[in-house]
Amino acid sequence: MHKFQIAIDGPASSGKSTIAKIIARDLGYIYVDTGAMYRVVTFLAIKNGVAFGDAAALVALTRANKISFENVEGGQLTLINGVDVSDDIRQTDVTNNVSEVAALKAVREELVRLQREIAETHPVVMDGRDIGTVVLPDADVKIFMVASVTERAERRYKENISRGIPTDLAVLEKEIAERDYKDSHRAESPLKQADDAILVDTTGMSIDDVVNRIKELIK
Ligand code: DC
Repeated sequence: MHKFQIAIDGPASSGKSTIAKIIARDLGYIYVDTGAMYRVVTFLAIKNGVAFGDAAALVALTRANKISFENVEGGQLTLINGVDVSDDIRQTDVTNNVSEVAALKAVREELVRLQREIAETHPVVMDGRDIGTVVLPDADVKIFMVASVTERAERRYKENISRGIPTDLAVLEKEIAERDYKDSHRAESPLKQADDAILVDTTGMSIDDVVNRIKELIK
């Protein structure tokens, strides 16, 4: 049976995960952070000395390790075989290489299969780049969330500092622009607004404003 599905896509740091988490909590749905899943595979590659372009080895690593999420007060943890890697997957070495891993068709197929499995059994709020276009094309609500590069760099800067990750704002801005380019120009499932997705530009909007706007759309 089809469970209720809310798809939120958009570029890095557009506010997707913050908003998706709140909506999922308020509606009692499962939040699925698909970016975290691509980060886990990248992290596993680094840990196991596997080249970022070695699709077959990366798929094998993905199958051999259990990726899961756990809800905790104020957020969600990402786990590999039950071990919390939430902070590890946000480190710069993962962030700067995840686009290469996410460009691999075989890796995407494996993760999309896992994402659909979750959505088959639970009502979900899923965020990523290809949720409305590829993963859940029949989602009940599709949002495409954007914000200016400057504002996104400032948001990620604050997030990194609060996690204790040393960061330079100008470098961050450059990295975000580069990642936007890579994510939207790759051959496999590029970042793209679905025809039936609603565009929400969060530049200058507070978290509450965005949450309320999306709740109106869900109604
Ligand atoms: O949202 P994020 O920064 O955690 O995503 C990490 C990377 O994973 C990003 O470079 C794009 C990629 N990604 C993807 O290709 N498809 C998704 N559904 C989610 C993320």
